[in-house]
Amino acid sequence: MYRVGQKEVDAVARVLLSGELFRYHIGGECERFEKRYAKYVGAKHCRMTSSGTTALTAVLGGLGLGPGDEIIVPAQTYMATAISVLSVGAIPIIVDIDESLTLCPQSVDEAVGPQTRAVIPVHMWGLSCDMDGLMAVARKHDLLVIEDACQAVGGGYEGRKLGSIGHAGAFSFNYYKNMTAGEGGAFVTDDDEAAARAACMVDCCSFYWTGRQEDFRPFAATGSRASEIEGALMNVQLDRLPSMIRALRKQKKRILEETADTGLTPAPSRSPEWECGAQVVYTLPSEPAADAFASLTGGTVTGKTGRHVFTEWDPVLDHQGAHHPALNPYNLPQNRKCRRKYPKGMCQRSLDILSRTVMIGNHPDRKRAEVTALIKRINQAAAEVL
Ligand SMILES: Cc1ncc(COP(=O)(O)O)c(C=O)c1O
Repeated sequence: MYRVGQKEVDAVARVLLSGELFRYHIGGECERFEKRYAKYVGAKHCRMTSSGTTALTAVLGGLGLGPGDEIIVPAQTYMATAISVLSVGAIPIIVDIDESLTLCPQSVDEAVGPQTRAVIPVHMWGLSCDMDGLMAVARKHDLLVIEDACQAVGGGYEGRKLGSIGHAGAFSFNYYKNMTAGEGGAFVTDDDEAAARAACMVDCCSFYWTGRQEDFRPFAATGSRASEIEGALMNVQLDRLPSMIRALRKQKKRILEETADTGLTPAPSRSPEWECGAQVVYTLPSEPAADAFASLTGGTVTGKTGRHVFTEWDPVLDHQGAHHPALNPYNLPQNRKCRRKYPKGMCQRSLDILSRTVMIGNHPDRKRAEVTALIKRINQAAAEVL
């Protein structure tokens, strides 16, 4: 959570006092946010959801993915990316990242098998994936691309907003994200059919409120509708977003410039002018050097957050893919031809990179003197560790 204040309080108070907390009242906050956010991202459709996880699940289902399909996910992401794949009955295939901490296009190319139908690039820590490289691989193998932009709200790649480059994108608005309603999420897509189907995943009962459509047959889905309180919060958060992202990028640029002579290696950035700038990231020569550098700077070793490395995804590694064994994707006959094993020793390259990479968080409200002090700390730590 970066910035929340009186404007959010007033917006929520307005909704509460109006007595209209349900999203289907005409011209409400959710609808307004969806229109504004679609325009901001540069996508045709947007739908709010209860979380990033449900946004991902909705678009995977919306695009028709399910049993029989393998979907590639990176070795480092919040487990929800892989869980959303299981939620639609498909199998997650875990693939190496590179030093940029995002999916390695060459590793994706090599990992594609006969059952692979989609890939989920995750713009981790606000860092943009190599979308040109990944889209080229996707075109070569006819894969669907679903961008997990949960950690990269407001970020871009070569002038385009993250989430708008693949076939669909998903965002989280939980407490830790660039915009927040405490919890929440949204998906975007240009695909009319996928949008209608994904909206059905979010609320298969919506036709009671919005009217039946001649050309669309609703199907059963669990539902993850947003409320007007979330909509009200998000409309204010969206007003704040552009200046916040500008401040984060500027801060990152300054820190990188003023630590350039230390011998530190900044992690490769795929789109430095457009990414969020939420983290300054350095690749250290060894794990002990990374541990020492992190403790001296107040940074975090990216492999040691306790929840973002595939080795920590218990339900995936234990093949506990659903609440009921008959619905467990790992048991489904349709998935028999999918690769379902996660062998010991897999993705060693990712584990090595993650053990040597340190990220230092930015904040848009940091004062100039605080940034100066941080730069001094980084310079001193580099001198000590390298
Ligand atoms: C990369 C990534 N994907 C998906 C999610 C899931 O979002 P949520 O927590 O809103 O369900 C998160 C949340 O932290 C995330 O970081």
